[in-house]
Parts: sequence; structure tokens; C-alpha cells
Amino acid sequence: MQADMQQPMVKLNNGVSIPQLGLGVFQTPDGSETVDAVRWALQAGYRHIDTARAYKNEASVGQGIRESGLKRRDVFVTTKLWNDAIRAGRTRQAFEESLDLLGTDYIDLYLIHWPAQGWQKAWEAMEELYNERRVRAIGVCNFEQHHLEELHSISSLKPVVNQIESSPIFTNQELVDYCHGNLRVDVEAWSPLGGSGTHLLSNSKLAEIGEKYSKSAAQVVIRWHLQRGVIVIPKSTHQERIEQNFDVFDFELSDEDMAAIAALNTGKRVGADPNNFNF
Ligand code: A2P
Repeated sequence: MQADMQQPMVKLNNGVSIPQLGLGVFQTPDGSETVDAVRWALQAGYRHIDTARAYKNEASVGQGIRESGLKRRDVFVTTKLWNDAIRAGRTRQAFEESLDLLGTDYIDLYLIHWPAQGWQKAWEAMEELYNERRVRAIGVCNFEQHHLEELHSISSLKPVVNQIESSPIFTNQELVDYCHGNLRVDVEAWSPLGGSGTHLLSNSKLAEIGEKYSKSAAQVVIRWHLQRGVIVIPKSTHQERIEQNFDVFDFELSDEDMAAIAALNTGKRVGADPNNFNF
């Protein structure tokens, strides 16, 4: 596939463009599994990899990118500042460590992973990194509306994205609408397929919709995210699934199917609550 011709790009609020579909590597073990997943994804046409310090696989992500033969600048790389560094006021050191692990000299998108105590200071340090052009864009994850309001009150620099839990079983639509509407902050969905512990992908409604378009449940869900304007980073360690998850640019869900997928919402989170987490 001619990656750059077909995949949608999102222009972030600082003018930087990000591929709307990326590979997520949460819970992908460091070593050959991550190296292979990244290589297979880049071979299939992905140009966006989403990792984090806490995933403990940045070194393998870097290796996978190098082994792909692509130039560093052709791949959009996101990593995230973990909570221990936020609490200890070690943003700059943690950033340098991530660069070393990834084997790169800049990050495309650097994110606060959770609103851990001290995140306001961390944001100041990230602003400095941004102004020094060590990162092309900065943003947050797991920020609720009140966190975003506080951030707005202390900083003139807007986050480019808020990466939050969002899937058909927990659409988080109010927060998505708040980010897209008032703020012009793009939303990235984590656990976009419902994560590894749910049975979302065996839902019969998704199978029924998929049949109409000759697509799998996973492809239907990824397409749903794309059409609702969300940046989506499904995870898989299997080559055929990684390829399948990228084969979503040749069909369009009807409004009715979009609504039927959103109606699977249970309002219950799969992951932790940003207002009450203990890690
Ligand atoms: P695996 O890595 O074994 O393929 P999320 O992105 O929401 O965190 O969900 C990822 C989960 O969905 C993982 O358990 C992953 O398992 C599985 N998965 C990813 N892509 C597909 C697919 N195309 N078909 C079925 N399961 C998938």
C-alpha cells in the first residue's frame, strides 16, 4: 500500500500533522515481540507508533523503526512521561532517558501519562522542551475537563492532544466533545478495541455490521473511531491483525451503523479512573 497517499492525517492545533491511525504497544513485551510488531506495522504502511516509558519497550520500538529501513523523520513517534518522574520533578531527565532508549534525538509527541501530583510543574518542563525544539508537540493523557481547565489557567500553550480511554463500550463522548468543541484539542483513543480484557470484538452487532462491508469487528471499530474524528492506536502483536487493522480506508460506515456502534456504550470504564488512580 502507498501509505502516505491513503491514510488520513490530522493537523494538530500547533500545525504539526499526525497519521490518524497508529500502532499502540501497551502490553507488547520488550524484545522481539515489540521489534516485530513495529516492523510489521511500518511494512504495512503505518507511520505512527505510540509507546510510553511505562510500557518498558521504548528500546525495542527504536530498534523496530531502524530495522524497517525508514528514515526517522518518516515515522511519527509518541512517548509519555511516567508518574514517578512527574511526582519527583524529573521531567527533563526522564525525557533524556526516553530519547536514549528510543535511540533518537527528538520526539514527535511527548505526553503527560496521568495527572499525577506535580503534573503542573511537569507541563512547565515540557513547554521548555517544546520551545527548545526537542519535541515537535506536547500533550496530555487521562485529563478530565477540570484538569484541562486548570491547565488552561496556568499555561498559554495548549496540549495538542488528550489521550483518553474510548471505545464502543466506553465512548467517553462528553469528554471527546469537550476537547473537540471548546478547546480544539484532538483526542486519541486508548484501548480503542476495548482493551485485552473485554469481549467487545465478539459482539454480534459488530459482526453483523462487518458482514455488510466484508470487514472484521476490529476493522469496524477502527473505522468508527476514524469517522468520529478520533486518533486511534490499536494494539496487536500478530502480523495479520496489524495488517488487517490498517486495511480500513476503503469503506465508509453509514450514519445508522455509526449510531448502532455508539449505542454499545455501557458508560463503564475498562481502565483506571483519572480522578482516582493508585499508581
Ligand atoms: P493481540 O495483541 O493478541 O492481537 P486495544 O487496542 O483496545 O488495547 O485492544 C487490543 C486487543 O485486541 C488486544 O488483546 C489484541 O490482541 C486484540 N486485537 C487487536 N487487533 C485485533 C484484530 N484485528 N482482531 C482480533 N483481535 C485484535
